[in-house]
Amino acid sequence: MNELLRQLLFLPEQRSSLAREIDGLHYFVILVTMGGAALITLIGGYFLIRYRRRPQDTPRPHPGAFARPALFLETVSLFALGFLFLTFWTIGTRQFADLRTAPDDALDVYVTGKQWMWKFGYPGGDREISVLYVPAHRPVRLIMTSRDVIHSFYVPAFRIKQDVIPGRYTTAWFEANEPGAYPILCAEFCGTSHSEMRGQVIALSPVDYERWLAGGLASAPAFAQKAAAEAENELAEAEPTMPSRGELAAAKHGCLRCHTLDGTPHVGPSWAGLYRAVVPLESGGERVADEAYITESIMDPLAALHRGFPPVMPSYLGQIAPPDVAAIIELMKSLRDVPHGPDVPWDGGVPGSSVTPEGVAP
Ligand code: CUA
Repeated sequence: MNELLRQLLFLPEQRSSLAREIDGLHYFVILVTMGGAALITLIGGYFLIRYRRRPQDTPRPHPGAFARPALFLETVSLFALGFLFLTFWTIGTRQFADLRTAPDDALDVYVTGKQWMWKFGYPGGDREISVLYVPAHRPVRLIMTSRDVIHSFYVPAFRIKQDVIPGRYTTAWFEANEPGAYPILCAEFCGTSHSEMRGQVIALSPVDYERWLAGGLASAPAFAQKAAAEAENELAEAEPTMPSRGELAAAKHGCLRCHTLDGTPHVGPSWAGLYRAVVPLESGGERVADEAYITESIMDPLAALHRGFPPVMPSYLGQIAPPDVAAIIELMKSLRDVPHGPDVPWDGGVPGSSVTPEGVAP
């Protein structure tokens, strides 16, 4: 019955712990209202024929004078309808409370919506764009905000949809009941590429999730890699501006693990206000951070190292495609007027697997 109605109503698979219950209410409301509509149509049709005007009928002067209210019938119908709506309301309120209240042991993931992509931040420091990796069979709480306009985080397979609002945090939670890849949509019109603001939730079995945490995408199962590649392609199509492509490339290549975009001190120089700035070198002297210097620093980071920063960046020669380099430079240009902040020595250690001693260029 559930399966039949689900397909009749073109609903996606039920892949969260609450999905089936929510669909149950959906079916109940749809069946009752469709049944009611059919009943009224049938009765109306019957009256239409039964009381049609016949040739021998004479018009009555005041039709209202002949109507007698069916007090009992009307009272019963009103109370029955009221009861029915209260039933909808009671079930709906209970489900709403369940949907709003994440279990205490939920895994927190931070979600940022922006035109036109979804970004995910994990408490462990990992960051992802477009692809949200979660363990199946475990509640996940999303703490969401927007960087620009109102978006709406919508995962049809989980039956969750929540507005994401600039300057405010909203939350939603779900528990995927089966590993798989489930589309994320934006359900609030947010500009030109609203319809392309998509992503994927990739629910991994607990074992695969641990593996992903330890080793990244390479150790995730094939379906997850395929879904992630699709999400990335979609994103590239949806991202029309060079700086946003640059941000994407920078995230993909792990640049953002050491370089910040807002002037916050970190392992490497912040990209805020860096373009065309005069950079003091470790070896003495200085360079202007133009296209040539930036490209050189990506390919051979130690050749002209920024003074005060540890020599830990690996060479990206042959690792990064020229269009990505161009996009990253455009990103830096777009950050030219963001205050750079102090170049203070970083003492928080070197995070992430991308910065290993072996990776350092000679
Ligand atoms: Cu974001 Cu529509």
